[in-house]
Amino acid sequence: MKWFFVLSGLIAYTGKPVSTSCPVQMSPSRVVVRFEDPFSVNCSSPSDHIDSMGWESIYGVGIGSTDNVSSVSLKIKSVKDWNIAPICFMNFLDGTQCTEPLPVTVYKTPDTVSMWTNHKGLMVEGVKYEMHCDIVNVAPAKNLSVLWYKGNQIVSTHTFSESELSPVNKSHVYRLIPRRGDNGSPIWCEAKLHFRPAVSIPTVRSNSYEAVVLYSPAFTNPENETLELSSGSKLILNCSATGNPMPVYSWGFPHEIQQTTKINENESILTPSIGLPGSYNCTVSNTRGTRTKYFTVIEAKRDPTVIAALVGVFGVLGVVALVAGAFFVKSDGTFPCNKGSYIKGQPTSSGPV
Ligand SMILES: *[C@@H]1O[C@H](CO)[C@@H](O)[C@H](O)[C@H]1NC(C)=O
Ligand SMILES: *[C@@H]1O[C@H](CO)[C@@H](O)[C@H](O)[C@H]1NC(C)=O
Ligand SMILES: *[C@@H]1O[C@H](CO)[C@@H](O)[C@H](O)[C@H]1NC(C)=O
Ligand SMILES: *[C@@H]1O[C@H](CO)[C@@H](O)[C@H](O)[C@H]1NC(C)=O
Repeated sequence: MKWFFVLSGLIAYTGKPVSTSCPVQMSPSRVVVRFEDPFSVNCSSPSDHIDSMGWESIYGVGIGSTDNVSSVSLKIKSVKDWNIAPICFMNFLDGTQCTEPLPVTVYKTPDTVSMWTNHKGLMVEGVKYEMHCDIVNVAPAKNLSVLWYKGNQIVSTHTFSESELSPVNKSHVYRLIPRRGDNGSPIWCEAKLHFRPAVSIPTVRSNSYEAVVLYSPAFTNPENETLELSSGSKLILNCSATGNPMPVYSWGFPHEIQQTTKINENESILTPSIGLPGSYNCTVSNTRGTRTKYFTVIEAKRDPTVIAALVGVFGVLGVVALVAGAFFVKSDGTFPCNKGSYIKGQPTSSGPV
């Protein structure tokens, strides 16, 4: 009995029962607006049972109701609240009311975006470093992304779960493990507000940090090499390596005579003046490490087809000489002097030809 009285009293107080679904069209259907910028929106209805329409908002940006209209516009000159939540309402001829909220997102781009690290000086390959990105005075944080760049490539992105609609400060830590390829790469972070549908909002970029990465030497051509010594061409031993700091080269030679010849030892490519077969080595080192590469230098073999041809020619000539000698000796039992000179002369005449 008492409850009934209270409920009917409430209905009497508000005047009309409220239904949530409104036969209206909002144009635009949602608003993304920068703080202190203007916007306007039109709420219209095809219904012909409208008594009055209007806009209201708990932040006082509304307009009162207007009788006998099918559309009402809300025009805001400058958004001053972070949560303005305007509502379009309609009163029907039968005394019922409906309301339709307009989704409004008020944003502010950051005042500053800055990047810093506790680490002083040069970085070392494979070691973990903490890079901090500080974003000052941004709203709303739930639509903020932090993007980390390393040499124009996005290496990490981060979003925040934050319900605060007014501006806040946000930080993100990126754990960088530099690789040798990162040496000299700029690293920076960027703050970006993203909305759906996409709204073009300028991103704010931090200062950039140039990573100087120390790393152990690595050979450009890491395999041990076997080289053939051929007459007339120089012996070239290529030991080129990369490293930071610049690697220092030292060479090991198979023969003592080569050790004593004047060579600039800190050379990446060596061309010994005396090319001799044997095992050479080259050691590269810097503050991060040392590596050795081996070169096996061998005597070039003669072309086997040439040798076979030479053996063949001499073999045939030998057989011819034997047959000829046997024939002349057998026919008359003597060895003729004139034929003998011919046989003797044969190998010498063939030599220089
Ligand atoms: C709102 O939209 C309706 C329907 O599209 C149109 O007739 C009316 O002129 C618009 N009002 C304003 C103020 O833009
Ligand atoms: C955000 O950081 C700025 C600068 O460090 C500071 O002045 C401001 O008070 C901070 N704001 C909040 C909400 O903490
Ligand atoms: C802002 O971000 C939230 C959470 O990611 C998302 O649901 C919402 O649609 C975004 N706002 C806009 C206007 O895109
Ligand atoms: C090169 O030769 C050395 C000594 O024989 C060996 O220890 C090393 O593993 C070889 N390196 C490569 C890349 O084959």
